[in-house]
Amino acid sequence: MKILVTGGTGYIGSHTVVELQQSGYEVVIIDNLSNSYASVVDNIEKISGIRPGFEKIDLTDIGKTANFFNRHNNIVGVIHFAALKAVGESVQEPLLYYRNNLNSLINLLEGMIKAGIPNIVFSSSCTVYGQPDELPVTEQAPIQKAWSPYAHTKQIAEEIIENTTKVENVKGILLRYFNPIGAHESVLIGELPIGVPNNLIPFITQTAIGKREVLSVFGEDYNTPDGTAIRDYIHVVDLAKAHVIAIDRMLNDKSKDKVEMFNLGTGNGFSVLEVINSFEKVTDVKLNYKIVDRRSGDIEKVWANTTYANRELGWKAEKGIDEMMLSAWNWEKALQKKTWP
Ligand code: NAD
Ligand code: WQD
Repeated sequence: MKILVTGGTGYIGSHTVVELQQSGYEVVIIDNLSNSYASVVDNIEKISGIRPGFEKIDLTDIGKTANFFNRHNNIVGVIHFAALKAVGESVQEPLLYYRNNLNSLINLLEGMIKAGIPNIVFSSSCTVYGQPDELPVTEQAPIQKAWSPYAHTKQIAEEIIENTTKVENVKGILLRYFNPIGAHESVLIGELPIGVPNNLIPFITQTAIGKREVLSVFGEDYNTPDGTAIRDYIHVVDLAKAHVIAIDRMLNDKSKDKVEMFNLGTGNGFSVLEVINSFEKVTDVKLNYKIVDRRSGDIEKVWANTTYANRELGWKAEKGIDEMMLSAWNWEKALQKKTWP
């Protein structure tokens, strides 16, 4: 059973490739390496003992994408991770984001339809909910006006998939991730933030290891118990496992609708200060941080209602905040010893 994983050398994709292989699937990756390295393929092989197929293709290239499907006629499902994901950059370069994230998806769907591949799992995001009125947020919460072009590409992509499933022999599962963190226990794969990280956890670990001087905590005047913003952090391996279940579900005809959506979080929200406390506790490292103004565009609080995903997928995130912090720290320490790529 061969699965195409787009963006498979990226952060979440690489962990998912490993889980797919360990569940008996054969994997072929498409990635243009715009935000990852070819050496990730070697590291996947080191973990699983199996080398995934790899093709360096930019999915916005319709000819090369179509050509890929002409050469692979035995793929049974696609997991589509490939996208640009930096929220701030998407505000500066909206057209780059719309072109990359949406043209890729359209080319991919056209290729799948022509090749008769009926299953797609799509990387969506809790960002589609904006600041939900009710917490924890369920899959039924209204989609709010997007706060960034990046978020908008996720909303449009969900609709493109949904509309396509209405008229083509294609089923979709939309997975709305909350905040993925941590790395594989082998520390052979993990997140490789390029430049100054935007996300909290890599900024914490880089500060702790001495790459950054001080962590800025964005805002302490939110309407939360300690005043800092709350998110639902989920370990990347827990997240990766849900993708294997989603693929199994489609291949075994267990989907209830042609398009289904699931929240992938732990169901627990942690504030920035709680995350810092957990990090300091499990690593025994004192973190240098200061409170600054809110970051523009940030929402106050969001965490998932995971009841539907837990019940329907038979999946539950297993790792707690302390374990996730330790995992992120082990990865940062391993990165120190590596020379990339
Ligand atoms: P990542 O940047 O590590 O991985 C994405 C991969 O896609 C990269 O390897 C990149 O080179 C590749 N890619 C980008 N555009 C491409 C194109 N046109 N053709 C071929 N390859 C292309 O990001 P990630 O954190 O692993 O995220 C994976 C997916 O999950 C993305 O769709 C992202 O939007 C979504 N997501 C991520 C998060 C998060 O916090 N990391 C949260 C919610 C959703
Ligand atoms: C978490 C919390 C910050 C950095 C982003 C995207 C979202 C999704 C996940 C893809 C917030 C605070 C952060 C720092 C801080 N990606 N923070 N100091 O903002 O929840 O979501 O990544 O879909 O679309 O917007 O994640 O890790 O940036 O921030 O205080 O240096 O940490 O204000 O409250 P966020 P994050």
